[in-house]
Amino acid sequence: MIIGSGGQLGSELEDYLVSLYGREKIYSSDIKKNNSNGENFILLDALNKDDIYKTIKENNIKIVYHLAAILSAKGEANPIQTWNLNMNTLFNVLELAKEKVLSKVFWPSSIAVFGPSSPRNPAKQFSIMDPTTVYGISKLAGERWCEYYNKNYSTDIRSVRFPGIISYKSLPGGGTTDYAVDIFHSAMKKEKYSCFLKEDTYLPMLYIDDALMAMHKIMEEKKSNLSISSSYNLSAMSFSPKELFESIKKYKKNFDIKYNPDYRQKIADTWPESIDDSYARNDWGWKESFNLDKMTKEIILNLKS
Ligand SMILES: NC(=O)c1ccc[n+]([C@@H]2O[C@H](COP(=O)([O-])OP(=O)(O)OC[C@H]3O[C@@H](n4cnc5c(N)ncnc54)[C@H](O)[C@@H]3O)[C@@H](O)[C@H]2O)c1
Repeated sequence: MIIGSGGQLGSELEDYLVSLYGREKIYSSDIKKNNSNGENFILLDALNKDDIYKTIKENNIKIVYHLAAILSAKGEANPIQTWNLNMNTLFNVLELAKEKVLSKVFWPSSIAVFGPSSPRNPAKQFSIMDPTTVYGISKLAGERWCEYYNKNYSTDIRSVRFPGIISYKSLPGGGTTDYAVDIFHSAMKKEKYSCFLKEDTYLPMLYIDDALMAMHKIMEEKKSNLSISSSYNLSAMSFSPKELFESIKKYKKNFDIKYNPDYRQKIADTWPESIDDSYARNDWGWKESFNLDKMTKEIILNLKS
């Protein structure tokens, strides 16, 4: 079952898991209904422990992908609500894993766990982490709790620190890397794009197909091969708004951009430019298939059709 299936990641994960395991095996749930909800959709507030417990028991669900969260940029507008949602929904799922109702959980962390004192190029698996956003603080605390449950209660919680995820079917949910999705829609509409980050702001990014593949790979790996029981660094590419703009220009010659950095620039300035993900590569064979130009080509072709 996916919790938070209506979001940028969840909506694509549902189709992906259905293609791998069959419709009847996959349940999706979210606090909101939307038009693309599949057959096995359950309206569920992940803050309500009793409802989650009942749903999971009744449907004999053994594996959960817990994606519900408030993201970095949105989270700053309401820090307490963000902390409450991001932490308490995680505890609800961790407790079900502790009670062995769930046998396996995927929970995504983020590069937002890093902060101004972390090395920026690259940030390593065990670098200093001093996140400055409530989102980053909740993800770092969440990682520590995942490791705590894994070590003390023999749970099987698996996690990666996702960089900015770029997709074209689903819209982003309020993160600092959302520009890299929005820019493609402006290019297709022949609008001048107003970018909320400076042209030379490098951030780690990942194409949605690679994000889905990473989740599948880490969930299928033998548990004994996973040496990190908190959350794995993961990366594929790093680029700046200017480099992405230039990559899109190869297909959209008249496309234009202006840079109007806003409050999100301050968040981006505390995040690493690149990530050392050697643990993921060595432990479970992580390897991306998309770089910047391959991703741009794929998105433009798909948006066109
Ligand atoms: N998108 C990225 O670039 C990115 C990067 C790093 C990590 N992540 C992580 O991946 C996960 C999914 O991200 P996303 O981009 O799909 O987020 P999103 O904001 O697009 O989707 C989150 C979903 O959670 C749902 N939700 C919110 N409160 C809920 C509740 N109480 N009960 C049930 N559902 C609830 C929302 O309705 C929404 O559909 C999050 O944990 C996020 O932190 C995402």
